[in-house]
Amino acid sequence: MVAVSAPGKAILFGEHAVVYGEPAVAVAIDARVTVNLTPCTGEWKVGGTPLDPEKHPHLDFLRRQILGSDSEPRSFQVVSELFPAAGLGSSAALSAAACSALIQASGATESDVVEVARLAHFAEASAQGGRASPIDTSTSTLGGCVFVSDQRESLASWQYTRSLTTPEGEREWEVHSVDLPSKAESVWLVVGSTGIHSPTGEMVAKVAELLKRNPEKEADIKRMGEVARAGAKAISDGDFEEVGRLMDEAHVLLSGIGVSCQELDDMVEVARQTSLGAKLTGAGGGGCMLALTRNPEETAAAVEMRGGRVIVTPLGATGVRVENP
Ligand code: MEV
Repeated sequence: MVAVSAPGKAILFGEHAVVYGEPAVAVAIDARVTVNLTPCTGEWKVGGTPLDPEKHPHLDFLRRQILGSDSEPRSFQVVSELFPAAGLGSSAALSAAACSALIQASGATESDVVEVARLAHFAEASAQGGRASPIDTSTSTLGGCVFVSDQRESLASWQYTRSLTTPEGEREWEVHSVDLPSKAESVWLVVGSTGIHSPTGEMVAKVAELLKRNPEKEADIKRMGEVARAGAKAISDGDFEEVGRLMDEAHVLLSGIGVSCQELDDMVEVARQTSLGAKLTGAGGGGCMLALTRNPEETAAAVEMRGGRVIVTPLGATGVRVENP
């Protein structure tokens, strides 16, 4: 048996804009997806039932890419601590963990993180109508704090370049890791789920249509990228008051491209009273909000009062990790 886990992620800055090549920043969170892969008889299975490519396009893509279409069948058992379809990167974490498990099952002694991130990104893109930035899969694979940009940045350590052909054209991203300063230990993220399922592919397609109809909205996408770059600098400087202020601005911009909703706005507003800043996180349209706070208990209680299910996490967690006994 092979067992591998990968963390979920919370996007601090730049969701949606990153699909168009703008910068974005995310941290791995303390909630993981674990994939157990075992040989089995008959056909490939997920959770004991036959692997349905419609339901699990990522897993189908990865097993074909890594082991080939005629490989011996195996069974995936998936255990997730993440809310599904909620903007916390559950499918990216599943892709990263499954990719690393399949690479091990192929007989490789080690799985190279760059290769895991590359294949997991293609799996996401194939499941998201060809539009996926590498932010989710890179954060799940590398862990810590990840800064994706349109150029190599001096304030972070460059890891690799990712490129993809999307329906809107060729995209290229430079993926970096940001060293979290010791001041990051004094702040927490409170993630609140609205409980509203919101598939990423649909939200990404909705933004693509909006930009086609209203090209002037491209200025907001650019501004999101500027906010993300400023946010990466504030994180590496340990200026979390500035990070919070920029998160507030990011929420306004995201609302402007139509990806917020009343439930998210309400939870963001209530969280702001005890936090440094708050915004929706991930694809939006439901899913989750995020607050950066020095008072995690108070902020979590306030979000729960608004009906949100909450995860409290420090900034950054270990990336893809082999869990074999
Ligand atoms: C989803 O977690 C983040 C989006 O920016 C999509 C992507 O980057 O592929 C909305």
